[in-house]
Amino acid sequence: MDVVPIAIIGCGGMGRRHLRGLATLQASDFNNVSLAAVCDLQRPNAEDLADEAEQLLGTRPQVCERIADLAAVDGLRGCDITTDAGSHHRVAVQCLEAGLHVQIEKPLSLTIRGCDAIIAAARERGLVLSVAENYRRDPINRLARALLADGAIGTPQFMLEVGIGGGKQIAITPWRHHKLTGTIVTDAGIHNADIMMYYLGDVVTAYGEGRITQPIRYRAAEAGGPGGFYAKWAEDFPEQVEATGEDALFGSLHFASGALGTWIAHRGAIGHSQGQRTVYGSNGSLSSPGDRQGAPLTVYVDGRTITDGAMLDLAPSYRLPPLEAALFGGERVWRYDGPFNEIDWKILAQEYHEFATCVLTGARPEVTGEVGRRTVALVNALFESGLAGRAVTLDEVEAGAVDAYQREIDEHLGLV
Ligand SMILES: NC(=O)c1ccc[n+]([C@@H]2O[C@H](COP(=O)([O-])OP(=O)(O)OC[C@H]3O[C@@H](n4cnc5c(N)ncnc54)[C@H](O)[C@@H]3O)[C@@H](O)[C@H]2O)c1
Repeated sequence: MDVVPIAIIGCGGMGRRHLRGLATLQASDFNNVSLAAVCDLQRPNAEDLADEAEQLLGTRPQVCERIADLAAVDGLRGCDITTDAGSHHRVAVQCLEAGLHVQIEKPLSLTIRGCDAIIAAARERGLVLSVAENYRRDPINRLARALLADGAIGTPQFMLEVGIGGGKQIAITPWRHHKLTGTIVTDAGIHNADIMMYYLGDVVTAYGEGRITQPIRYRAAEAGGPGGFYAKWAEDFPEQVEATGEDALFGSLHFASGALGTWIAHRGAIGHSQGQRTVYGSNGSLSSPGDRQGAPLTVYVDGRTITDGAMLDLAPSYRLPPLEAALFGGERVWRYDGPFNEIDWKILAQEYHEFATCVLTGARPEVTGEVGRRTVALVNALFESGLAGRAVTLDEVEAGAVDAYQREIDEHLGLV
């Protein structure tokens, strides 16, 4: 099978997780990616990831400090950008201008102007641009979407998407508490924005606002981040961080279908934490156990509560593609087991596989730049709505007609 040689750019926490995703793909019968290089402005981060790659993949990739150095990597065709969110537009445009296909972590950029720059650079050169949005690739979310599309609960009318918790501790890294480098509710909330539109289709209008609920964030006693992959940097985090970026979003949404949504992403809540993702339809409801859990959905329909394989009868269109089916144990899985990290890596393996397939065949990625930009528009629509004191349409946010919140970031990033 043809393989696409790539470089991982950004060797922090997510770069380390992506490497495990690549190792999972390479251990399968579907591998189509090789790791030619790793790149990070912080050379020790790149060296460490190269060491880990040698252990996990059997060969050591070349180590680069600057993107310009990737030109010297033999046969390189693509890159996987896992740098912090505020750097995405610069890094991606540079890679695309160098003729490299791009897979890039969410959010595509912090602002619409940043997204536009990346999308334009990819279009101009006819290169693949794929946004690594992992939550929707969880088989349980694939099944939920099929159930909704197949009419299992009738016509969807209302979606509740709630995540409340977080307390006062630094959320993964300090940069997630600064408006100019990417707030935690942009960084993590973008997943919810994607899931809501993945389940129910496009959102047209949003009303709400963002808040800083914890102005000071403190270093946690054990700050390992998701999967424990950040522990080696955590001891260098400051004792406390003064937040300039929002840690909570509260919104009312209007979907193009006519359905309504309530979205709460409160990452500074003290005490009772909760998560809820439920869609109510004309004939029933569907609740999700959360992402990368493997627990079954709960479908309530015709007076029955279904939490087992019987729900598959209501989703005739549900079928996972071959790699997903191989990794998760079947084409129509309705639950699965395993530790968080292994589940995480299986999903990241799918992203790599799809990206390389697009490079090799010219197929269109599932999460294109345009899809990624729409989720950036949804998150920013709530920030913009809060400043404007009115509901805003995602179209006016995408068109740049409403940008009071984003302008300061754009100025900082050199985009205006
Ligand atoms: N999908 C998910 O579940 C998930 C989870 C965590 C993070 N992420 C995303 O992954 C990305 C990275 O997040 P992280 O937590 O790993 O950040 P991080 O701060 O741990 O790592 C970022 C790395 O990028 C490097 N870097 C920054 N600018 C660079 C440049 N111009 N060239 C080369 N290297 C550069 C930094 O030196 C650092 O090593 C973000 O977009 C974040 O939103 C996604």
